Amino acid sequence: MTKDTPLKTDVLVIGCGIAGASAALEAAKRGLHVTVITQATAPEESNTFYAQGGIVSLGPDDDPELLRADIIKTGDGISNPEAVDILVRESKPLVDSILIDELKVPFTRGDGSKLDFAQEGGHSRRRILHVRDTTGRTIEERFIEALRRQPNVVLMADHTAVDLLTVPHHSRDPIAYYHEPRCIGAYVLDNGARTVKRIFAAQTILATGGCGSIYLHTSNPRGTIGAGYAMAYGAGARIVNMEYIQFHPTTLFHRDADSFLISETVRGEGARLKTRDGRTFMQDYSERKDLAPRDVVTRAIYEEMINTNSDYVLLDLASYAKIDIRKRFPNIYRTCRRFGIDITREPIPVVPAAHYSCGGVLADGWGRTSLAGLYAVGEVSCTGLHGANRLASTSLLEGLVWGTRAGRDIAARFEGGVPFKASDIHEWYYPAREEAIDPALINQDWLTIRTTMWNYAGIVRTTKRLERALADLEYLLHRIEKFYREAAMDVKLVGLKHGIRVALMITHAALANPVSLGAHFRVD
Ligand code: SIN
Repeated sequence: MTKDTPLKTDVLVIGCGIAGASAALEAAKRGLHVTVITQATAPEESNTFYAQGGIVSLGPDDDPELLRADIIKTGDGISNPEAVDILVRESKPLVDSILIDELKVPFTRGDGSKLDFAQEGGHSRRRILHVRDTTGRTIEERFIEALRRQPNVVLMADHTAVDLLTVPHHSRDPIAYYHEPRCIGAYVLDNGARTVKRIFAAQTILATGGCGSIYLHTSNPRGTIGAGYAMAYGAGARIVNMEYIQFHPTTLFHRDADSFLISETVRGEGARLKTRDGRTFMQDYSERKDLAPRDVVTRAIYEEMINTNSDYVLLDLASYAKIDIRKRFPNIYRTCRRFGIDITREPIPVVPAAHYSCGGVLADGWGRTSLAGLYAVGEVSCTGLHGANRLASTSLLEGLVWGTRAGRDIAARFEGGVPFKASDIHEWYYPAREEAIDPALINQDWLTIRTTMWNYAGIVRTTKRLERALADLEYLLHRIEKFYREAAMDVKLVGLKHGIRVALMITHAALANPVSLGAHFRVD
């Protein structure tokens, strides 16, 4: 394999949903050279793109103290108070200045062109701004347009981060061992050419999103396999709270629908959950009924499915809505219609699916991690904001707030380029005889990971199930690592190597924590 030509940049952003895009935009506006990589072919493709519900701001009858209390209560009391303070303080000013004034996001307006605020579970007020039911897509498209207008931003689609570059680990210089460990960029795979280059950066920002796709059923796009957690772990950064995987209560139950999300704002507009024989049940589980926090609703559905020996429950909007359903939820209406369900007339079959990781790479109020030179923002990070369970529609907001703060912090503290010579850092190692990858092996390994996580480390966990998961996943890890060392570089293989690591991280964390809290529920 030929030598790579290393690239250099002030800031390398890995991932380009709302968190990565806001960090990139902020750093670029402050004069830094920013390189953004994304494994997707279209840079818009990200978890953000699929977010339907909206983004928390402050409603007309609202109060920051009420928002603070809702976040802490939903997080089951273990949210980081400093992170909650930052979010509560900065939410409205940043939504107004960046999303509304700068990016001109066309949030839905009601009577007299006043902003329309939606309701979701766990919120004591209507305070969620939305663009009908395609909020994430609209925000993401505006961010990508803004990044494309910045002359000092390079957007590299179809590029996948393989590993973080760290010294002393990747250094040829023995003296490097006497200095503090530091991230200096990443090894990055060009998906098409299948070659790995070194991108050196003074500061690297992980914004890779979550890991829903290591579960059999997920509301996330299939590429969301937790690459950022695996890379940060490999580089020695601290990772916390990985047991708190949030399951969204309602995704479409249909063989071909790939767990399409049915937004919680649907329940915010009055929809009620019912068993297949038409019995409402959330009143038996919470005084907030269908608008209880997600963990409560998810477990109630799980229980009802077991009790009624059913693969799904029903979400009935048609009987309760006081709004024009097609106008308010055009995307959900159209998608369900494609699968033969008319949501204006009949209930929607729904099941829970893995949705969001509340834990991740430990990050402070500016997104700095425990590893010098590395920031983490958005879902891949754990600021502690979400505690054991995330309050609905705070994820886009956390991405915006921490992305913007990280961009500002990096610019304010910037001291010049990468403090290492490219020649000191190892190029990517390719095996002498590269084996072609066999997709059947990769598919089978993924099936094992996904079914193991769903059945043994999912909504309800027991010691026995988790121990079985650990044994099966550890065995698989050996096989995958051997396979990885010998095979030709390929984006699918990189994903598998990251995915198995993340599955193990979650299983270890779940096994080590016997206390049920929020999204982590043990029954032994
Ligand atoms: C939804 O619309 O239900 C998802 C919003 C979120 O996850 O915060």
